[in-house]
Amino acid sequence: MTDCQGDGEGTMSPMELFEKLNAQGEKVRSLKSAKAEKAEIDAAVQLLLKLKVDYKQMTGQDYKAGCPPSENLIVSNNGPAADDCDGEDLVDPWNVSASSTKGVDYDKLIVRFGSSKIDKELLERIEKVSGQRAHHFLRRGIFFSHRDMHQILDAYEKHKSFYLYTGRGPSSEAMHVGHLIPFIFTKWLQDVFDIPLVIQMTDDEKYLWKDLTLEECHRFTVENAKDIIACGFDVNKTFIFSDLDYMGASPQFYRNVVKVQKHVTFNQVKGIFGFTDSDCIGKISFPAIQAAPSFSSSFPQIFGGKKDVPCLIPCAIDQDPYFRMTRDVAPRIGLLKPALLHSTFFPALQGAQTKMSASDPNSSIFLTDTPKQIKNKVNKHAFSGGKDTVEEHRKYGGNTEVDVSFLYLTFFLEDDEKLEKIKEDYTSGALLTGELKKILIETLQPMIAQHQERRKQVTDEMVQQFMTPRPLNFKF
Ligand code: TRP
Repeated sequence: MTDCQGDGEGTMSPMELFEKLNAQGEKVRSLKSAKAEKAEIDAAVQLLLKLKVDYKQMTGQDYKAGCPPSENLIVSNNGPAADDCDGEDLVDPWNVSASSTKGVDYDKLIVRFGSSKIDKELLERIEKVSGQRAHHFLRRGIFFSHRDMHQILDAYEKHKSFYLYTGRGPSSEAMHVGHLIPFIFTKWLQDVFDIPLVIQMTDDEKYLWKDLTLEECHRFTVENAKDIIACGFDVNKTFIFSDLDYMGASPQFYRNVVKVQKHVTFNQVKGIFGFTDSDCIGKISFPAIQAAPSFSSSFPQIFGGKKDVPCLIPCAIDQDPYFRMTRDVAPRIGLLKPALLHSTFFPALQGAQTKMSASDPNSSIFLTDTPKQIKNKVNKHAFSGGKDTVEEHRKYGGNTEVDVSFLYLTFFLEDDEKLEKIKEDYTSGALLTGELKKILIETLQPMIAQHQERRKQVTDEMVQQFMTPRPLNFKF
């Protein structure tokens, strides 16, 4: 065991044992493929079997590659297909696909990821502490899962403030409405709690993962920052940064990156992210860079060197692996674990089985779409939960659980009563698919047009201002 891991064998956690098993499995495979001596292979297999027995004793579960135990459990993206956990939904930072047309089973995901459901009690607490009605994303379960949100509220009640951290991987110039979800919600949190916000633009990540140049990724950062700023963030309370710029300019940020790097092993990131031996080393160390903004000491210009300002991260649930890793290392480097609020995915027009993808123009409504494009896309591509003929629809009604137009309205139609009425009428058959689509089109068109108008007002100087490291305006 390397000194990064610390613990001796006697005190191994289920996760460490799991990693040991992964490594042993790999050793057996490589011995076999290198046609090593039989005795050597046998010895390695014996150890593998023994570890499997230990694992079963410790966790009560059979060891399965790609299916880690408890809180660290995720499905890897590029491990062998046979490693996937029994026909379950696939959710990680690079893939989202559900086995059912209703989309990902989010309750199951909470159990698998070891997070907590945002229940009625938490909703009421958020309302009480913020003094505001909960955002409709919370009321409607779009933000559905959390880690340690109660602690954030406990501290806030005692006048100990916190900061928000979210981010965006700038993989293209074209952002779609789904990308706005975490930002719309983060803006609401910033307003109701009156707290600072940092937004990480992971241009380095996109350079490492995609076939793009550094210049392209950096340009996308600036273009995407304009869309983010157009969501209405307060320049006095918001710092947007490009990894490519900020990493080199901030000694404190880089120190935190290095601390994380020292305390996470290759085996751990393999288990969490599914990296393989042939992934470039940039990918393997990248998770430390996404972890660093979770610690207030990474931003001395904002927090004046304070190490203990709690962090709350609103994000889509596919980003959780990064923060499970972050929460795992935080106490080992003497820093606070970040808290999280997780959202569901924004479904593709074609159906809730997958999320919107910027690379398929027909799967998404882009922030640059014209009213006409919006109308055509919704009419042509939005998956319908209606019946095939008007007569059948009138008789049996439509299914709002799979109907993409209805799902989109749950994101963007703020009026609860109107939404409830649409649901009733669609389910009873009184409202036809074409009529439902029309309501969606008429909701999206002004929303996108207003976004475009606000984006036009965002000047290069404003972007520059948001992206300059500086003190922010807040009282703690
Ligand atoms: N990895 C994210 C993406 O590809 C970007 C990101 C960085 C992020 N830090 C984050 C997202 C914090 C949510 C919260 O989009």
